[in-house]
Amino acid sequence: MENSSKIKNQELHAILNLLFLAKKLDLSGNKPDFLHRRISRRMSVTKTNNHQEYLAYLQNNSLEIEALQDILTINVSHFFRNSFTFDYLDKIIIPKIINTKLKAKKPVLRIWSAGCSTGEEAYSIGILIDNYLRKNDLIMDVSIFATDIDIKSLAYAKKGKYTAESLKETKLEIITNYFSQLEGKYKILPRIKKMVHFSTFDLLNSHQYAPEESIYGDFDLIFCRNVLIYFNKEYQEIIFNKLNKSMNTTSLLVLGEAEEPPGEYEKRFHKESIYFKIYQKTQALTANLKFVQ
Ligand SMILES: C[S@@+](CC[C@H](N)C(=O)[O-])C[C@H]1O[C@@H](n2cnc3c(N)ncnc32)[C@H](O)[C@@H]1O
Repeated sequence: MENSSKIKNQELHAILNLLFLAKKLDLSGNKPDFLHRRISRRMSVTKTNNHQEYLAYLQNNSLEIEALQDILTINVSHFFRNSFTFDYLDKIIIPKIINTKLKAKKPVLRIWSAGCSTGEEAYSIGILIDNYLRKNDLIMDVSIFATDIDIKSLAYAKKGKYTAESLKETKLEIITNYFSQLEGKYKILPRIKKMVHFSTFDLLNSHQYAPEESIYGDFDLIFCRNVLIYFNKEYQEIIFNKLNKSMNTTSLLVLGEAEEPPGEYEKRFHKESIYFKIYQKTQALTANLKFVQ
Protein backbone atom coordinates (compact mmCIF):
# COMPACT_ATOMS: atom_id res chain seq x y z
CA MET A 1 0.00 0.00 0.00
CA GLU A 2 1.30 3.48 -0.87
CA ASN A 3 1.80 6.00 1.92
CA SER A 4 -1.06 8.49 1.71
CA SER A 5 -0.12 11.04 4.43
CA LYS A 6 0.84 14.32 2.75
CA ILE A 7 4.53 15.07 2.60
CA LYS A 8 5.60 18.23 4.49
CA ASN A 9 7.47 20.92 2.52
CA GLN A 10 10.45 20.58 4.81
CA GLU A 11 10.67 16.80 4.26
CA LEU A 12 10.28 17.14 0.53
CA HIS A 13 12.97 19.81 0.48
CA ALA A 14 15.34 17.55 2.47
CA ILE A 15 14.77 14.58 0.12
CA LEU A 16 15.29 16.70 -3.00
CA ASN A 17 18.37 18.28 -1.45
CA LEU A 18 19.91 14.84 -0.90
CA LEU A 19 19.25 13.97 -4.52
CA PHE A 20 20.78 17.24 -5.64
CA LEU A 21 23.94 16.71 -3.57
CA ALA A 22 24.35 13.10 -4.73
CA LYS A 23 23.31 13.44 -8.37
CA LYS A 24 23.33 17.17 -9.20
CA LEU A 25 19.70 16.66 -10.16
CA ASP A 26 17.45 19.62 -9.38
CA LEU A 27 13.87 18.38 -9.26
CA SER A 28 12.51 21.20 -7.11
CA GLY A 29 10.43 22.56 -9.99
CA ASN A 30 8.45 19.34 -10.35
CA LYS A 31 4.81 19.38 -9.33
CA PRO A 32 4.55 18.50 -5.58
CA ASP A 33 1.73 15.99 -6.20
CA PHE A 34 3.87 14.12 -8.70
CA LEU A 35 6.85 14.06 -6.31
CA HIS A 36 4.63 12.95 -3.44
CA ARG A 37 3.15 10.04 -5.42
CA ARG A 38 6.54 8.81 -6.58
CA ILE A 39 8.20 9.11 -3.18
CA SER A 40 5.26 7.21 -1.65
CA ARG A 41 5.91 4.36 -4.07
CA ARG A 42 9.52 4.12 -2.90
CA MET A 43 8.30 4.20 0.70
CA SER A 44 6.14 1.14 0.12
CA VAL A 45 8.98 -0.70 -1.61
CA THR A 46 11.44 0.15 1.18
CA LYS A 47 8.79 -0.54 3.84
CA THR A 48 9.44 2.77 5.58
CA ASN A 49 6.48 4.05 7.59
CA ASN A 50 6.73 7.81 7.25
CA HIS A 51 8.68 10.47 5.36
CA GLN A 52 11.16 10.99 8.21
CA GLU A 53 11.98 7.29 8.21
CA TYR A 54 12.35 7.28 4.44
CA LEU A 55 14.69 10.28 4.60
CA ALA A 56 16.90 8.47 7.12
CA TYR A 57 16.88 5.37 4.91
CA LEU A 58 17.86 7.48 1.90
CA GLN A 59 20.73 9.12 3.79
CA ASN A 60 22.29 5.72 4.48
CA ASN A 61 21.62 3.94 1.23
CA SER A 62 23.20 5.00 -2.05
CA LEU A 63 21.24 2.34 -3.98
CA GLU A 64 18.01 3.94 -2.80
CA ILE A 65 19.21 7.28 -4.19
CA GLU A 66 19.57 5.55 -7.58
CA ALA A 67 16.10 4.03 -7.26
CA LEU A 68 14.56 7.36 -6.32
CA GLN A 69 16.29 9.09 -9.22
CA ASP A 70 14.94 6.44 -11.59
CA ILE A 71 11.37 6.82 -10.40
CA LEU A 72 11.46 10.63 -10.43
CA THR A 73 12.93 11.02 -13.90
CA ILE A 74 10.41 9.21 -16.02
CA ASN A 75 11.97 7.91 -19.16
CA VAL A 76 9.11 6.16 -20.92
CA SER A 77 9.11 6.63 -24.67
CA HIS A 78 8.53 4.66 -27.85
CA PHE A 79 8.94 5.04 -31.59
CA PHE A 80 6.34 7.25 -33.32
CA ARG A 81 4.65 8.04 -30.00
CA ASN A 82 1.32 9.72 -30.84
CA SER A 83 1.46 8.37 -34.36
CA PHE A 84 -1.05 10.94 -35.75
CA THR A 85 1.46 13.70 -35.01
CA PHE A 86 4.20 11.74 -36.79
CA ASP A 87 1.85 11.09 -39.75
CA TYR A 88 1.28 14.84 -40.03
CA LEU A 89 5.02 15.50 -39.80
CA ASP A 90 5.58 12.87 -42.49
CA LYS A 91 2.91 14.01 -44.95
CA ILE A 92 2.92 17.80 -44.47
CA ILE A 93 5.73 19.24 -42.36
CA ILE A 94 8.79 17.34 -43.58
CA PRO A 95 8.07 17.89 -47.30
CA LYS A 96 7.37 21.58 -46.61
CA ILE A 97 10.57 22.21 -44.63
CA ILE A 98 12.81 20.24 -46.98
CA ASN A 99 11.46 21.81 -50.16
CA THR A 100 11.60 25.34 -48.73
CA LYS A 101 15.21 24.82 -47.72
CA LEU A 102 16.21 23.32 -51.05
CA LYS A 103 14.55 26.19 -52.93
CA ALA A 104 16.51 28.67 -50.79
CA LYS A 105 19.67 26.66 -51.61
CA LYS A 106 20.18 25.81 -47.93
CA PRO A 107 20.45 22.01 -47.94
CA VAL A 108 20.95 21.75 -44.16
CA LEU A 109 18.38 20.56 -41.64
CA ARG A 110 18.84 21.02 -37.88
CA ILE A 111 16.61 19.29 -35.37
CA TRP A 112 16.61 19.14 -31.56
CA SER A 113 14.93 16.44 -29.49
CA ALA A 114 14.94 18.07 -26.03
CA GLY A 115 14.24 15.50 -23.30
CA CYS A 116 14.88 12.63 -25.73
CA SER A 117 14.93 9.91 -23.07
CA THR A 118 16.01 6.62 -24.68
CA GLY A 119 16.21 8.08 -28.19
CA GLU A 120 13.07 6.76 -29.92
CA GLU A 121 11.76 10.25 -30.77
CA ALA A 122 15.04 11.37 -32.38
CA TYR A 123 15.37 8.17 -34.42
CA SER A 124 11.69 8.34 -35.47
CA ILE A 125 12.11 11.77 -37.07
CA GLY A 126 15.42 10.64 -38.59
CA ILE A 127 13.66 7.69 -40.24
CA LEU A 128 10.91 9.88 -41.73
CA ILE A 129 13.38 12.39 -43.14
CA ASP A 130 15.59 9.67 -44.61
CA ASN A 131 12.54 8.00 -46.15
CA TYR A 132 11.40 11.26 -47.78
CA LEU A 133 14.85 12.15 -49.11
CA ARG A 134 15.35 8.67 -50.62
CA LYS A 135 11.90 8.47 -52.18
CA ASN A 136 12.40 11.85 -53.83
CA ASP A 137 16.05 11.37 -54.70
CA LEU A 138 17.12 14.43 -52.68
CA ILE A 139 20.29 15.17 -50.73
CA MET A 140 20.40 17.08 -47.49
CA ASP A 141 22.78 17.45 -44.58
CA VAL A 142 20.66 16.36 -41.58
CA SER A 143 21.76 16.81 -37.94
CA ILE A 144 19.56 15.69 -35.08
CA PHE A 145 20.72 16.79 -31.63
CA ALA A 146 19.13 14.66 -28.93
CA THR A 147 19.59 15.66 -25.30
CA ASP A 148 18.49 14.54 -21.87
CA ILE A 149 19.49 15.05 -18.26
CA ASP A 150 19.52 11.30 -17.61
CA ILE A 151 22.85 9.67 -18.44
CA LYS A 152 21.49 6.11 -18.27
CA SER A 153 18.78 6.85 -20.84
CA LEU A 154 21.35 8.43 -23.15
CA ALA A 155 23.62 5.38 -22.87
CA TYR A 156 20.67 3.17 -23.86
CA ALA A 157 19.79 5.52 -26.74
CA LYS A 158 23.32 5.44 -28.15
CA LYS A 159 23.15 1.64 -28.50
CA GLY A 160 20.17 1.99 -30.87
CA LYS A 161 18.83 -1.43 -29.84
CA TYR A 162 15.18 -1.76 -28.83
CA THR A 163 12.55 -4.25 -27.74
CA ALA A 164 9.42 -5.08 -29.75
CA GLU A 165 7.39 -3.09 -27.18
CA SER A 166 9.06 0.18 -28.23
CA LEU A 167 7.90 -0.44 -31.82
CA LYS A 168 4.22 -0.85 -30.90
CA GLU A 169 3.16 2.24 -32.92
CA THR A 170 5.57 1.62 -35.81
CA LYS A 171 4.40 0.59 -39.29
CA LEU A 172 5.56 -2.81 -40.50
CA GLU A 173 7.15 -1.27 -43.62
CA ILE A 174 9.34 0.94 -41.40
CA ILE A 175 10.34 -1.95 -39.13
CA THR A 176 11.37 -3.95 -42.20
CA ASN A 177 13.31 -1.13 -43.85
CA TYR A 178 14.94 0.54 -40.87
CA PHE A 179 15.70 -2.19 -38.32
CA SER A 180 17.69 -5.39 -38.30
CA GLN A 181 16.59 -8.12 -35.91
CA LEU A 182 19.09 -9.75 -33.60
CA GLU A 183 18.34 -12.05 -30.68
CA GLY A 184 14.84 -10.69 -30.23
CA LYS A 185 16.01 -7.05 -30.34
CA TYR A 186 15.55 -4.48 -33.09
CA LYS A 187 18.64 -2.57 -34.15
CA ILE A 188 18.31 0.78 -35.92
CA LEU A 189 20.16 1.13 -39.27
CA PRO A 190 23.66 2.65 -38.92
CA ARG A 191 22.70 5.32 -41.49
CA ILE A 192 19.98 6.66 -39.14
CA LYS A 193 22.17 6.27 -36.06
CA LYS A 194 24.77 8.53 -37.69
CA MET A 195 22.24 11.34 -38.07
CA VAL A 196 21.66 11.60 -34.30
CA HIS A 197 24.09 13.21 -31.82
CA PHE A 198 23.25 12.40 -28.20
CA SER A 199 24.46 14.54 -25.30
CA THR A 200 23.64 15.50 -21.73
CA PHE A 201 21.77 18.77 -21.36
CA ASP A 202 19.78 20.15 -18.45
CA LEU A 203 16.82 22.14 -19.71
CA LEU A 204 16.79 24.06 -16.43
CA ASN A 205 20.45 25.09 -16.53
CA SER A 206 20.41 28.86 -16.92
CA HIS A 207 23.91 29.09 -18.40
CA GLN A 208 23.29 27.32 -21.71
CA TYR A 209 20.39 27.87 -24.05
CA ALA A 210 21.18 25.15 -26.60
CA PRO A 211 23.20 21.91 -26.57
CA GLU A 212 26.93 22.57 -26.89
CA GLU A 213 27.28 20.18 -29.85
CA SER A 214 24.77 22.23 -31.85
CA ILE A 215 27.01 25.29 -31.30
CA TYR A 216 24.39 27.97 -31.91
CA GLY A 217 20.90 26.47 -31.73
CA ASP A 218 18.80 27.88 -34.59
CA PHE A 219 16.83 24.70 -35.22
CA ASP A 220 14.29 24.07 -37.97
CA LEU A 221 12.34 21.68 -35.79
CA ILE A 222 12.35 21.13 -32.02
CA PHE A 223 10.68 18.31 -30.13
CA CYS A 224 10.05 18.90 -26.45
CA ARG A 225 7.37 16.34 -25.72
CA ASN A 226 6.19 14.97 -22.41
CA VAL A 227 8.77 16.96 -20.45
CA LEU A 228 6.87 20.16 -19.50
CA ILE A 229 4.07 18.15 -17.85
CA TYR A 230 6.35 17.26 -14.96
CA PHE A 231 7.17 20.88 -14.09
CA ASN A 232 5.34 23.78 -12.50
CA LYS A 233 4.64 26.97 -14.52
CA GLU A 234 7.79 28.77 -13.33
CA TYR A 235 10.05 25.94 -14.53
CA GLN A 236 8.04 25.47 -17.71
CA GLU A 237 8.79 29.11 -18.51
CA ILE A 238 12.52 28.61 -17.93
CA ILE A 239 12.45 25.70 -20.38
CA PHE A 240 10.35 27.63 -22.88
CA ASN A 241 12.71 30.58 -22.73
CA LYS A 242 15.47 28.25 -23.91
CA LEU A 243 13.39 26.72 -26.69
CA ASN A 244 12.32 30.19 -27.80
CA LYS A 245 15.94 31.38 -28.08
CA SER A 246 16.81 28.39 -30.27
CA MET A 247 14.06 29.12 -32.78
CA ASN A 248 13.79 31.55 -35.68
CA THR A 249 10.58 32.77 -37.33
CA THR A 250 10.17 29.64 -39.44
CA SER A 251 11.16 27.05 -36.81
CA LEU A 252 8.52 24.63 -35.55
CA LEU A 253 8.13 23.31 -32.03
CA VAL A 254 6.38 20.00 -31.28
CA LEU A 255 4.97 19.59 -27.76
CA GLY A 256 3.31 16.56 -26.12
CA GLU A 257 -0.45 15.98 -26.34
CA ALA A 258 -1.11 17.41 -22.86
CA GLU A 259 1.25 20.38 -23.13
CA GLU A 260 1.04 23.99 -24.25
CA PRO A 261 3.16 27.16 -24.12
CA PRO A 262 3.13 28.48 -20.52
CA GLY A 263 2.34 32.03 -19.33
CA GLU A 264 3.32 34.83 -21.70
CA TYR A 265 4.47 32.30 -24.32
CA GLU A 266 0.83 31.47 -25.01
CA LYS A 267 0.58 34.78 -26.93
CA ARG A 268 4.02 34.56 -28.49
CA PHE A 269 3.37 31.18 -30.09
CA HIS A 270 0.52 29.93 -32.24
CA LYS A 271 -0.47 26.50 -33.47
CA GLU A 272 0.64 25.59 -36.98
CA SER A 273 -2.44 23.38 -37.32
CA ILE A 274 -5.53 23.32 -35.10
CA TYR A 275 -5.27 19.55 -34.76
CA PHE A 276 -1.70 19.11 -33.55
CA LYS A 277 0.56 20.46 -30.81
CA ILE A 278 2.94 21.99 -33.33
CA TYR A 279 3.81 25.64 -32.69
CA GLN A 280 5.45 28.54 -34.45
CA LYS A 281 6.48 31.97 -33.18
CA THR A 282 3.77 34.55 -33.77
CA GLN A 283 5.12 36.67 -36.65
CA ALA A 284 3.88 40.13 -35.65
CA LEU A 285 5.24 39.75 -32.16
CA THR A 286 8.54 38.38 -33.38
CA ALA A 287 8.90 41.38 -35.68
CA ASN A 288 8.15 43.79 -32.79
CA LEU A 289 10.56 41.98 -30.50
CA LYS A 290 13.37 42.52 -33.01
CA PHE A 291 12.97 46.28 -32.50
CA VAL A 292 12.80 45.96 -28.73
CA GLN A 293 15.96 43.85 -28.45
C1 LIG B 1 8.68 11.05 -20.53
S1 LIG B 1 10.27 11.34 -21.16
C2 LIG B 1 9.87 11.99 -22.76
C3 LIG B 1 10.61 11.30 -23.88
C4 LIG B 1 10.20 11.71 -25.28
N1 LIG B 1 10.35 13.13 -25.46
C5 LIG B 1 8.79 11.28 -25.57
O1 LIG B 1 7.87 12.10 -25.59
O2 LIG B 1 8.56 10.08 -25.77
C6 LIG B 1 10.80 12.78 -20.27
C7 LIG B 1 12.30 13.00 -20.32
O3 LIG B 1 12.61 14.30 -19.82
C8 LIG B 1 13.86 14.22 -19.18
N2 LIG B 1 14.07 15.38 -18.30
C9 LIG B 1 13.50 15.64 -17.10
N3 LIG B 1 13.99 16.78 -16.60
C10 LIG B 1 14.90 17.25 -17.48
C11 LIG B 1 15.75 18.37 -17.52
N4 LIG B 1 15.77 19.27 -16.53
N5 LIG B 1 16.57 18.54 -18.59
C12 LIG B 1 16.56 17.65 -19.61
N6 LIG B 1 15.77 16.55 -19.63
C13 LIG B 1 14.96 16.35 -18.59
C14 LIG B 1 13.77 12.90 -18.41
O4 LIG B 1 15.05 12.43 -18.06
C15 LIG B 1 13.05 12.02 -19.44
O5 LIG B 1 13.95 11.27 -20.19
